[in-house]
Amino acid sequence: MSAHASPGSFTGTSPVWLKTPEDVNALVPALWSATAEKDANGVLTVGGVAVPDLVANINTPAYVLDEADFRERARAFRDAFTGYDVYYAGKAFLCTEVARWVAQEGLCLDVCSNGELSVALRAEVDPAKIGYHGNNKTPMELRRAIVAGVGRIIVDSFAEVERVAAIAAETGITASVMVRVTAGVEAHTHEYIATAHEDQKFGFSISSGDAFEAVRRLLDAPNVELRGLHSHIGSQIFDSSGFEVAARRVLALQARIRDELGTELPEMDLGGGFGIAYTTQDDPSTPKALAEELTAIVEHECRGFGLAVPHLSIEPGRAIVGPSMCTVYTVGTVKEVALDGGVTRTYVSVDGGMSDNIRTALYDADYSATLAGRASSAGPVLGRVVGKHCEAGDIVVKHEFLPADIAPGDLIAVPGTGAYGRSMASNYNHALRPPVVAVRDGESRVIVRRETEDDLFATDMG
Ligand code: LLP
Repeated sequence: MSAHASPGSFTGTSPVWLKTPEDVNALVPALWSATAEKDANGVLTVGGVAVPDLVANINTPAYVLDEADFRERARAFRDAFTGYDVYYAGKAFLCTEVARWVAQEGLCLDVCSNGELSVALRAEVDPAKIGYHGNNKTPMELRRAIVAGVGRIIVDSFAEVERVAAIAAETGITASVMVRVTAGVEAHTHEYIATAHEDQKFGFSISSGDAFEAVRRLLDAPNVELRGLHSHIGSQIFDSSGFEVAARRVLALQARIRDELGTELPEMDLGGGFGIAYTTQDDPSTPKALAEELTAIVEHECRGFGLAVPHLSIEPGRAIVGPSMCTVYTVGTVKEVALDGGVTRTYVSVDGGMSDNIRTALYDADYSATLAGRASSAGPVLGRVVGKHCEAGDIVVKHEFLPADIAPGDLIAVPGTGAYGRSMASNYNHALRPPVVAVRDGESRVIVRRETEDDLFATDMG
């Protein structure tokens, strides 16, 4: 028996959330960018560009970025979070052109490394609208940020308190800072992307008193303007209870600062981490619902402590760029592998893998996939999309129903790869990192080109 299935009947080794599709060609709209659709021939188009035509020119694998969708998600956050500053978290995906879109849509930009800061400055993002994170910023990096006029440096350690104070004193430039605090919250997400529990590297613990002490020292430092407290609890979070607990603890600290140091810090950042739908098991909130929920939480807690509501900001990365991009691959081999119980799994090998999407291997992430170049009349089989790297864990999509006639040469597309796909891509096995092609209104534009062998050899001294 093979793992062929008719709708609703499949009982093989697929996870419970994966339902046998009525039509294996159909897109699940919630997983795709707004302009993605399939025509009657099963051809996937994004931004009015037919994916087979696009890759005929630029080859596969390729990341396809739906510009209108990206801009729309950025605007949705900006408009829903009225009165807030919205910082797009560039670590999710950043290149010069995308930094420009972020600025054009009226968002600020969160960078967390010297390299990301370089991209932001190259794109001529107003430095005052840049926030700079990182748990190990060097004195040189801090000096560069302060001299460039970066709007807020999020201070993460006592060493950094001293470094910032020294640079501000020496240059005479006022350094504008926030204090990254850890609220002791166990966010319900993968261990590697939770950031507010106590036993990890980021920020100052509230419960140990370190966060208070950092605030005290920064308030005492000449030429340092302390704007507020910053709390980011983790990533790919769906449940607002973590934000609620964090807000209560951060505002308790704000109250202690008022009571003991005589000042209410004017700002507060709630971080990013809003989840997106990778598969049908995910049900994310809208920016509007998130804004209402978070604002209500902060207002409630402020009332409880008798505090004024500070000027708020958030830092969404994934929720803006994640759904805006898909990755297009070409199928190279198809292999039926026998599983226990007499069923088979169809292993579909594509021309990329863990070098362009490490999230499946690193976080056990789920994705979905669809045939992108034609319609199939074959029934669905339980498939697994794997890469071409030398590792058994080189999996792109762990579980997906694919048409039984999937074959070498077929194009498949994986949605939701915009966040932490290209930005965490590597040259593993000397893979050449794929391009990012922006599509909009029937036009396509390469905004990050494909790497070449020359790029590989540029650093290999021979
Ligand atoms: N702000 C801070 C301080 C952060 O550390 C992060 C993410 C964000 C904002 C944006 O979080 P987002 O809205 O994108 O969830 N590579 C992992 C995610 C690591 C997130 C690191 N920090 C992944 O692929 O799931």
